[in-house]
Amino acid sequence: MQPKYVLACETSCDETSLALVSIQEDFSVEVLYHEIASQVDVHASFGGVVPNLAKREHQKNLPLLWEKCRVFLSESSIHPDLMAVTVGPGLEPALWQGISFFSDIHKDVYPDIPLVGVNHLEGHIYSFLFHPSFDPKNIKDLFPMVSLLVSGGHTILGVLSDMYTYRLLGETKDDAVGESFDKVARLLGLPYPGGPQIERIAQDGDMHAYPFPSPLLHSPEYDFSYSGLKTAVLYHLRNISGDSSQSFSPGSQVSFSDTVRANTAASFQYAAFRPLVEKTQRALDEYHGKSVVVSGGVSASTFLRTYLENSVSTSGYTVPVFFPPFAYCQDNAAMIAVAGYIGHKIGRTYPLEAQGILNLSSSGAL
Ligand code: KG4
Ligand code: ZN
Repeated sequence: MQPKYVLACETSCDETSLALVSIQEDFSVEVLYHEIASQVDVHASFGGVVPNLAKREHQKNLPLLWEKCRVFLSESSIHPDLMAVTVGPGLEPALWQGISFFSDIHKDVYPDIPLVGVNHLEGHIYSFLFHPSFDPKNIKDLFPMVSLLVSGGHTILGVLSDMYTYRLLGETKDDAVGESFDKVARLLGLPYPGGPQIERIAQDGDMHAYPFPSPLLHSPEYDFSYSGLKTAVLYHLRNISGDSSQSFSPGSQVSFSDTVRANTAASFQYAAFRPLVEKTQRALDEYHGKSVVVSGGVSASTFLRTYLENSVSTSGYTVPVFFPPFAYCQDNAAMIAVAGYIGHKIGRTYPLEAQGILNLSSSGAL
């Protein structure tokens, strides 16, 4: 069985990444070259990603990463079989940087192979293939697979009946879960990205100190909502500070005790993750799921990992829960290589045009 070599590029948000991945027919993957240039420091002081700054950073980083990748390709004498680039969803100015850069390399260096557009969300979903305990020999035993995609831009629950067939169950009606961590971190005076900061200070807090609401927790559908939870945290902090109009914007002079901060972070984190865990369990029950795969930046949360692994089961049996290794939780080009390979194989590719909004199509095939 000959592996296919896929050269991929990711620039949808604040990570510039190039990768060369070898993929076998049975979905064994080996990452041969992988580089991620993170822009987190550039955006940190703004409390979120600034699209034009992201575009400028991608423009600066892409040639630098390509130079290293080109050396690797020539020294290893590997000629890629396929090129794949993220076309959406994401920040359009950032996406265009990757698309035009890769289109030029395609034209100048590898005009003999296809270049395909990839849906970034499919990349996150397939990142379970990088998990060290994933064994291609047992792949059939993992389906139906419940997929929870949680990032700064998305909160999506779905089911895969096989590697190619996805059914969307629900998604957020407003803020994404990662976005709510970023907003609550700002209220607490913590820098961007907020998730790791909240998790860090929550370790010293009591998650039952403040009973924040988990919107849509008991609703029968699989959708999520996070803007109400963020507002509840705002009102709670206003209440404690005694200032009912305080916005806690950067530079505000309000400060809280370490105990209040830790308890607020822990209680918020619990309220934010409860619907994710409970609806994942519900999806497992309804669709007779055999495994769970969690992906996206929020899947880096150790608290979420432990909470899910200890909670989900099928008929009393614990099901395997796959979290990608930390390097593949954040945005990266290796996952784009895998999604590009699978998409190309079944003819599900996307036009080479930036699409800020791009959904996961629901095949309804289950
Ligand atoms: O997938 P990603 O790198 O970028 C997007 O496509 O959005 O996800 C970044 C998001 C940020 O909102 C960040 O706060 C969140 O993932 N995040 C976390 C944790 N680590 C990162 N959220 C909660 N807990 C964490 N430990
Ligand atoms: Zn992402």
